[in-house]
Amino acid sequence: MESLTEIICNLKYDFRDLYKGNSHTTEVLPNSPSKFHIKDEHLLSLYAFLENNPIYSNQIVQKLSDIDCTIFEGDLNNYWIDSLKHDSSYAPFYPTWLLSAFCLSVESQKLGYEQIIDIGSGDGRIAYSGKILGLNSISIEIDENLVDLQEKISDKTGVKFNPICSDATTYDFSKISDKPSIFIIGGVPEIGEVLAESVIKNVLKI
Ligand SMILES: C[S@@+](CC[C@H](N)C(=O)[O-])C[C@H]1O[C@@H](n2cnc3c(N)ncnc32)[C@H](O)[C@@H]1O
Repeated sequence: MESLTEIICNLKYDFRDLYKGNSHTTEVLPNSPSKFHIKDEHLLSLYAFLENNPIYSNQIVQKLSDIDCTIFEGDLNNYWIDSLKHDSSYAPFYPTWLLSAFCLSVESQKLGYEQIIDIGSGDGRIAYSGKILGLNSISIEIDENLVDLQEKISDKTGVKFNPICSDATTYDFSKISDKPSIFIIGGVPEIGEVLAESVIKNVLKI
């Protein structure tokens, strides 16, 4: 049986070969959870994330990897440009595929983590995915427009994934709970070690 990771990779390859649209930003979700071993309620929550996200403005249905899928089309140019304006912004906004973000959260939970902390969280999709699985979520993002977008998605979906507007290079990590935590560092990969050191000192107190 194919793992969730393999199914998502095959879907991406098929999407690359078969999608004929010209949208700036795209996302793919399966229409039914069966082949993905995803619970109905989780798939519905992933749909809610994209349907309540102003980046996406159109949906088309297409078969990929023999699975009926919905392709969400949109444009994130303005958010991308906004995220470049901060002095300490190391990586501009470009989102992880939502299915990959969900997979990351599934695997984090399987490894025994209880809290997922996304550093440079963009529109909050990793923290959102963690929260719908029952993980404690923290979503740190430097750009206020993206945090505003996260808050709107959180309000509309009812998923409280804890958006925080802060520069992760100066954020006081001792404020967060000391549950077993996984850090996803997409925003500031260059300073991963510095953040790890601060967490070890201030949170784990080693
Ligand atoms: C490549 S995107 C990743 C978004 C999200 N983690 C995902 O995987 O979909 C990087 C994000 O990190 C944010 N970022 C960059 N530097 C940051 C900093 N110093 N503190 C907090 N966020 C930062 C950017 O604004 C951008 O939204």
